Amino acid sequence: MVMETISEENLLPYEWPGSYFIGEEEIDAVTKVLLARSPYRFYGHDVQHYTDKVEEFYRQRLGRKNAVLVNSGTGALSTAILAADVGPGDEVLMPGYLWVACLSAVVRAGGIPKLVEIDDTFTMDPDDLERKITPRTKAVLLIHMSGACGNVERIAEICKKHNVLLIEDTAQANGARFHGKPLGSFGDTAIYSFQYNKNVTAGEGGLVVSDSELLGAKAWAYHDVGYARNAAGRVDTSGDIQTWGQCTHMSEVSAAVLWAQVQKLDMITGKMRARNQQLYKGIGAIPGASPRRLIDPEGDSGPFCLITWPTAEIAQQMVDLTRAGGVKPGPNGIGNIRMTEWGMHIYYNNVALVEKKGVNSAGRPWSDPLNDFAKDYSYAKGALPQMDDLIERSVMITVPPALTEEGANRIIEVYHESAKQIGLI
Ligand SMILES: Cc1ncc(COP(=O)(O)O)c(C=O)c1O
Repeated sequence: MVMETISEENLLPYEWPGSYFIGEEEIDAVTKVLLARSPYRFYGHDVQHYTDKVEEFYRQRLGRKNAVLVNSGTGALSTAILAADVGPGDEVLMPGYLWVACLSAVVRAGGIPKLVEIDDTFTMDPDDLERKITPRTKAVLLIHMSGACGNVERIAEICKKHNVLLIEDTAQANGARFHGKPLGSFGDTAIYSFQYNKNVTAGEGGLVVSDSELLGAKAWAYHDVGYARNAAGRVDTSGDIQTWGQCTHMSEVSAAVLWAQVQKLDMITGKMRARNQQLYKGIGAIPGASPRRLIDPEGDSGPFCLITWPTAEIAQQMVDLTRAGGVKPGPNGIGNIRMTEWGMHIYYNNVALVEKKGVNSAGRPWSDPLNDFAKDYSYAKGALPQMDDLIERSVMITVPPALTEEGANRIIEVYHESAKQIGLI
């Protein structure tokens, strides 16, 4: 197996957490599915039930009643948004540090995304959330970006107080906790992604969890063909739910990979968290460096180290100098960038949002008369001044699970040497 290794030119080795640990266990599980000639979850020659096993794993781990696997985090978001009955006339509040799928799930459902500031936790600012809730607010999408949570308890309280549904997007924080309680167990619903660069991976994949019977049944129907299924795995059109599904099932092949991966989740996040704590301490000792505010450092799942500098110019100089000093990944990697360069994770980099492009030629949802309330909403840079300032001054370093203690020390040294060159030390 070819693995990128650490070198002086490439201090950020193999960055993608889950896939780094793909081994015999994944190969054995997939082989079982193929030998059984049963890659479909509902019926087949000799179904191995890996989808059922992974769903049960998450129900147990999160203390949730319902769990349904889907074929991507994007599919999971769509399923959760449809199950929440979001449509024309509704807005969904979400932080401006996000991923395009958070926006598209709402827009495709006919609703309006409304942006909320982030604070120095790099997740939703609860004060701005409370200011922005209106009678139009159908749901709040709390996105646990970059591996850890912010003030999740306070946000859950605000949602309860205003009687709005809380959906957690835990795509980037699988395995993270808040004072021992897993992220994904705070909201009415939560979603996960198992795409390639997530903490554990099936290549592609997603999950929707909830407790309420209605939300669970609707999530099931939307991920399927719009109806319930009977015990034999056949569609049952006679039940209460008769709607339009997306058929975003996970195959047994993906679930087999995922079953092996979830056994490794705590080991993987443990490794990344240890190195991340080392980086935060070492780089954070440089005068002017402000590490991400972690409300519960022990709950960080660890894949990203976020450091804010006094000015945008200093942030850029630090990136340029440390990359020249070797703090960069191998081919196709991401690590050590200004956060403004983090693509569609930054609201104003989403062209279709800024330009309010419709999902069809009629221009919906923006042109929908039921959404007239949102006609003055702006999504261009400047819409969230607090976030814009934070992002301009911040640098994101990926924390590969392959990073060793010595490797992390070398990264810290390069950061200190660079800080000396620009007079911070
Ligand atoms: C915060 C967040 N939500 C949702 C998704 C969507 O997941 P997927 O890529 O599996 O569709 C991602 C993926 O990168 C993400 O980062």
